[in-house]
Amino acid sequence: EQLQGLKHKRFLITAGGTRAYIDPVRYISNRSSGKMGYAFAQVARASGAEVTLISTTNQLPVPVGVHLISVETVTEMQQAVQQNFADADILIMAAAVSDYEPVQFVDHKIKKNSKTKQFTLELKETPDILKSLTAQKKKQIVVGFAAETDDLLQNAEAKLASKGADFIIANDVSRGDIGFNVSENAVTILQRQHANITIPKMSKQMIAKKVLEILAKRFS
Ligand code: C5P
Repeated sequence: EQLQGLKHKRFLITAGGTRAYIDPVRYISNRSSGKMGYAFAQVARASGAEVTLISTTNQLPVPVGVHLISVETVTEMQQAVQQNFADADILIMAAAVSDYEPVQFVDHKIKKNSKTKQFTLELKETPDILKSLTAQKKKQIVVGFAAETDDLLQNAEAKLASKGADFIIANDVSRGDIGFNVSENAVTILQRQHANITIPKMSKQMIAKKVLEILAKRFS
């Protein structure tokens, strides 16, 4: 069983959509449920790995034996990843991290102004957690996701090059039956110097198992 190779390996897994706060009561987020990340945590733990799960959601049961770190924002997620990356063997960035956040956080509830009818919110780029790790990367295997609605493989290939990841898991989120917020997925795995591997539609649990089988080969 190839998953044997994962015993005692240290996994760092992120899950869920981050929140970008506008004011104390409002935020911008995305449709990620965290299910894919939790499936990875469960399967890795069942293979005897030590798993730290950095999660934005409290809607899913935390697999027994998994160490949970709860976060909300990109900054909190980045800090948690940074603190645990050096000790990790494998990082799986399954979280849907906000690409933009408000330029300014307003520390009180913004009042509705009925006269203006429009409200403009200025956004700035968030720090890219994956890219920020490139310089610290040693033995770690780094896995990123590309959740796309169009040009899936082209975008995923670009991310494999730009993000410093060893694997990119390409995920079509335009379909209602797979991807965000449902229990099934279908993915294509991209690696440098390897042919792409396509995993057809199946449960996120089974997808996680198949991806981890491929990862485990890197340790054997
Ligand atoms: O949002 P994007 O398509 O660039 O996300 C691709 C990968 O990069 C995902 O694995 C995501 O978790 C990660 N990411 C990140 N920091 C960001 C945005 C995305 O680490 N600010």
